[in-house]
Amino acid sequence: MCGIVGYIGTKKASPILINGLLRLEYRGYDSAGIATIEKNDISVMKDKGRVKNLYNLKGIDDLTGTIGIAHTRWATHGKPSKENSHPHIDNSKTFSVVHNGIIENYHELRKFLGDNGYTFYSQTDTEVIPNLIHYYYSKDNNNDELKFLRAVRNACKELKGSFAIEVICKDYPDNMIVVRKDSPLVIGKGENENYISSDIPAILSFTRSFYLLNDLEFVILSRNDAKFYDIDLKPIKKDTKTIEWNASSAEKDGYDDYMLKEIHEQPTAIRETIGSKLSENGKCDFEDLDFTKEYLKSLNKIYIVACGTAMHAGLAGKNAIEKLCKIPTEVDIASEFRYRDPIIDEKTLCIFISQSGETADTIAALKLSKEKGAKTLAISNVIGSSITREADFSIYTHAGPEIAVASTKAYTSQVILITLLAIYFSQVLEINNEEINNLKIEILELPKKIEEALKTSEIVKEFSKRVYQEKDIFFLGRGIDETVAKEGSLKLKEISYIHSESYAAGELKHGPIALIENGITVVGIMTDPKLVEKTISNIQEVVTRGAKTLIITNQNIDINGFDMVIRIPNTSPFISPILSIIPLQLFSYYISKEKGLDVDKPRNLAKSVTVE
Ligand code: F6R
Repeated sequence: MCGIVGYIGTKKASPILINGLLRLEYRGYDSAGIATIEKNDISVMKDKGRVKNLYNLKGIDDLTGTIGIAHTRWATHGKPSKENSHPHIDNSKTFSVVHNGIIENYHELRKFLGDNGYTFYSQTDTEVIPNLIHYYYSKDNNNDELKFLRAVRNACKELKGSFAIEVICKDYPDNMIVVRKDSPLVIGKGENENYISSDIPAILSFTRSFYLLNDLEFVILSRNDAKFYDIDLKPIKKDTKTIEWNASSAEKDGYDDYMLKEIHEQPTAIRETIGSKLSENGKCDFEDLDFTKEYLKSLNKIYIVACGTAMHAGLAGKNAIEKLCKIPTEVDIASEFRYRDPIIDEKTLCIFISQSGETADTIAALKLSKEKGAKTLAISNVIGSSITREADFSIYTHAGPEIAVASTKAYTSQVILITLLAIYFSQVLEINNEEINNLKIEILELPKKIEEALKTSEIVKEFSKRVYQEKDIFFLGRGIDETVAKEGSLKLKEISYIHSESYAAGELKHGPIALIENGITVVGIMTDPKLVEKTISNIQEVVTRGAKTLIITNQNIDINGFDMVIRIPNTSPFISPILSIIPLQLFSYYISKEKGLDVDKPRNLAKSVTVE
């Protein structure tokens, strides 16, 4: 959703803030702004449009303040406009606030503040925050050093919903207060300076030392210090955590777009995610997990819950867990799961997959599962993210920062990690067979095979040029290939804006085939030798009706008679999604490029969906 940056130190804040926003722009990009403290007054500069527009604002170069807050917006309440952009300021111009999240009770708060003489210039939920802080500040007659903190804390107690906020106050020109609840925010510690950001990569070039905040921990930041308080304003002790990602992992490194770079980073991401979890001797080790055979045997069900692409990785997980461990496994969309009263008890294990670890629906689904007595296991790419702090157990993909909105390397890393988890479960359950042994060998060879699959780039590009003006593209597959059809279709619609649907190949003749007509493009995925004959018959049905066909298949499957056949290396069906999605990621990428679109920042989307 929105992105937040803050700086407090000895340097001029404005260039640091704008630079940080540029790195966070993938979180939201319809308006941007900064506020700095200038000679004991707050200066707010903001506008509709991309972050780079800030460079053109009159007076932006004259700012000299060394403390400031900044925001890039993805509109929820109120259309993209200068008035609705953050930072927001209270009526008395004493406080300025940036906010990520949603204040659910803002109507009531607006009414309350209105009754107390406050007026509003925007349609946002956020504008109530600086005014509410001012309301409490003006009622507090104790002018001690904690007055600013008390006002922020008292205001936050009134807020319902989710928020990560930064607040500056003109009466406290050497401090900034930050707090979060169900929205991400990290503090990077530098030398005589502190950085604040919605996520780690944006400030990784300044520091690797981070404070990770829990919900409703309040922080008073100064140049040299970070003081932490709980909701009762009792001081808390907090240590920094060192983040291993290096700064260049958050740069484009010569690629035109982050998405292309991230597609090419998949061999490394998979290698890093496998790490030492699978050794040459075939032992699978998750040091943070201690599931017993009795516990796994007692399970009546496993739920895998996630959103979007992460949910598609969950489908590959279901396939592996059910086939290798024989534990019934259901995959659910987090936004549905949380409202459908799922049947869960202490004999249910609930697994949550989230690249960011901050997706609001996934977090809510996790909390619900815990309340109902299930054990919870989080799979995330971000150490210390909200789902990992809520879950009983956490395991990590090591994909490195994923900046492009469309997920690529995070997805394939999730698929490999959950497959390794299935192997680990089978080991605990003492199930051992040739299929599992073969899968382990294939996993260790996977990074090299991904490099091979990436070599399909040129032919994919060629086919993309032939079809980029299409209005509809269909994706078909059976079994594990159907999960890839879903992901391929999502990727395409996300970044090319071409209408796309995916179907289980056998479902075609039960309705969707009515849509197939001369010239329409159909992508068929057929990597599972056991199912390939069946899928070929379905694809023949669309060829007969005049469709153009792109086929993704294995090297040892003999098929001809389609417009384009792309072959990826043979592997175990459990991990074939990791190879077969690669030409489809490239397909979406090249179509989007051919259409001249912004690949990394597709319209209406944001990287991290921290609202319902
Ligand atoms: C699509 C995509 C989204 C995310 C979804 C969940 O390319 O990236 O569908 O997968 O929003 O996000 P996380 O994994 O952060 O929970």
